[in-house]
Amino acid sequence: MNRSDTFEISPGGLFHGALRVPGDKSISHRAIMLGAIAEGHTRISGFLEGEDTLATLAAFRAMGVTIERDADRVSIDGAGLHGLRPPVAPLDLGNSGTSMRLLAGLLAGQRFDTTLTGDASLSRRPMRRVTEPLARMGAWIDTTAAGTAPLHIHGGRALTGIEYASPVASAQVKSCLLLAGLYAGGATRISEPMPSRDHTERMLEAFGCPVSSEAATVTVHGGPTLSACDIDVPADISSAAFFMVGASICPGSDLTLRHVGVNPTRAGVITVLRAMGADIAVLNERRQGGEPVADLRVRYAPLHGVAIGPEVVPAAIDEFPAIFIAAACAEGVTTLGGAEELRVKESDRIATMAGNLRLLGIDATALPDGMVITGGRLGAGTVDAHDDHRIAMSFAVAGARALGPVRVLHCANVATSFPGFVELARTAGLGIRGT
Ligand code: S3P
Repeated sequence: MNRSDTFEISPGGLFHGALRVPGDKSISHRAIMLGAIAEGHTRISGFLEGEDTLATLAAFRAMGVTIERDADRVSIDGAGLHGLRPPVAPLDLGNSGTSMRLLAGLLAGQRFDTTLTGDASLSRRPMRRVTEPLARMGAWIDTTAAGTAPLHIHGGRALTGIEYASPVASAQVKSCLLLAGLYAGGATRISEPMPSRDHTERMLEAFGCPVSSEAATVTVHGGPTLSACDIDVPADISSAAFFMVGASICPGSDLTLRHVGVNPTRAGVITVLRAMGADIAVLNERRQGGEPVADLRVRYAPLHGVAIGPEVVPAAIDEFPAIFIAAACAEGVTTLGGAEELRVKESDRIATMAGNLRLLGIDATALPDGMVITGGRLGAGTVDAHDDHRIAMSFAVAGARALGPVRVLHCANVATSFPGFVELARTAGLGIRGT
């Protein structure tokens, strides 16, 4: 697959037709993980063939699980809860925070040691948010002095369920502890300040493992048997978001995004864009393997600024780079607060987005926990994606509305979540070239 490092976008493109973006990243990771520790044969369709999810797949192969893959179809011979084998080398998880944090939980209760490593960005991201509660369960995990990867997980520890009130609404923290909870004695109960995405809970249920959820508290009991099942992965709403914003800001656009996952814990981008005046129709809503799915028809509409409060942040956490582009093209002021988590993503997304928007002539002020953006005319220029896939794709769609050509540098990590982005965007009508 093409791994372009620079995008060049000509102004004046639009988005039309019907397309399906690649599979949901969060669900693809979880399907590999649960399939690997289930009993029996799990078949996955619509699997995301991105570098992040392939890193998870490779990690389980390295732990002795037989996994076959033909494009987006994957079949897994489950090893059972206690059937993983010690890997002979550290597990390299590349850019993938989800792989590292969820695996930390799943591996804390194994009989063998493992070491988890990642690229420069992943090695800067905070891991104490998982290693501290895991230690309370009885795990023993070494980090750097800064609380970052590499993680060395000592095996042979007896874990005990805990009650944990997470200070952050994070599905990675919650899922890490739920996976550790499968190996722990008794109940593991996790509460969050606001509900984060619930794919782990839904998928555990699909594999026959009961999870009780009440408001923002979930509970799992140790020692279940997971039974293999078939998983149909919907298209990723986080990848669809770039096209939703592109179609909303480019006059003449009329785009249908097929089979998109619209789980309410993920669909905040629809709420925010609609509040800005976007024309988004949610069509043919249906359920597929425990997850709600729909087709989204997005037509151009003039947008206006809005105040985005903390209550919508967890359900749109990965979509703010794209939402900031919508705000830059909207009339008036958009404000966001309560989103300090954006500072610890693949890049500091508040700093990188504000800096790049200003380079293109937009009035954008970074706040510790959000941003203030006054809509205007995007100018031509060169911006740096800082190796962050979502920053790269956000400025790619922004280029369609700029006054002249836009170049985006350091885009290669788009392959972590959206292989084929340039080709698909071009098919839809964006004037983009990757080199
Ligand atoms: C994810 C959870 C979110 C999200 C990430 C994927 C997941 O991270 O930003 O892209 O699959 O659980 P946090 O848990 O850090 O909010």
